[in-house]
Amino acid sequence: MKVLEAEFVQGFICMANDGWKQGWHERNGGNLSYRIKKEEVDSIMEDLNRDGEWREIGATVPSLAGEYFMVTGSGKFFRNIINEPEDSIGIIEIDELGKNYRICWGLMNGGRPTSELPSHLMNHEVKMMASKGKHRVIYHAHTTNVIALTFVLPLDDKIFTRELWEMATECPVVFPDGVGVVPWMVPGGRDIAVATSKLMKKYDVAIWAHHGMFCSGENFDLTFGLMHTVEKSAEILVKVRSMRPNKLQSITPQNFRDLAKDFNVKLPEEFLHHE
Ligand code: 13P
Ligand code: ZN
Repeated sequence: MKVLEAEFVQGFICMANDGWKQGWHERNGGNLSYRIKKEEVDSIMEDLNRDGEWREIGATVPSLAGEYFMVTGSGKFFRNIINEPEDSIGIIEIDELGKNYRICWGLMNGGRPTSELPSHLMNHEVKMMASKGKHRVIYHAHTTNVIALTFVLPLDDKIFTRELWEMATECPVVFPDGVGVVPWMVPGGRDIAVATSKLMKKYDVAIWAHHGMFCSGENFDLTFGLMHTVEKSAEILVKVRSMRPNKLQSITPQNFRDLAKDFNVKLPEEFLHHE
């Protein structure tokens, strides 16, 4: 089968375009990666080039040795993915040491994987292990309202989690583990990848102060839905704080406990107690 005919490729392109339509991907902002299933790799093998040159990832991910990923290209615009997929996105294979990758499809015209490849792959490694292989999608977006909040809320996991949970009743059901916050760091390298993947051991969401968000999930729907839910919650918080400095009423710690019971989720008490 041709790569572009595969269902997962269509799902990848659709998700990228949905993100573009949300306004989260100005210019080349944001990036997306998908750990391709074995049977999906087999189904497109005839369309893959396996003679490409090996290049350094910039991080070591031994658990991902031999895996294939679909990734967005560095400097490529999400806006163009739907019309020029072979230029904007690509498939890479990881070598047996987890230190190098080679391009097997796409990224024509000399394209390279996203500059956030170290963060994507280190997050994939952590989430693959934590989810026993279920998580396959890592998504980075420049979500406007979450970014705005990183200028006015303390950069603290507990405070961000509680504030975002409070903004919409179903938020704690969608991200019961909460969100982590990475302070401002230089993007595109190993250091921010290490800091982010440390948080991803605990959370499915990591906020990058003054930059954006990373989300991890099992499939395109769940990962996009997670990004969308967190960002919508942030939008409500921005509106609330724009209307008045403090809330007149909100969801209480006991309300959260009642919700957790009926919706069968565990909500750590650590997130219910900040002022
Ligand atoms: P890339 O174009 O290299 O994916 O970078 C975009 C981005 O959002 C960096 O954080
Ligand atoms: Zn970015």
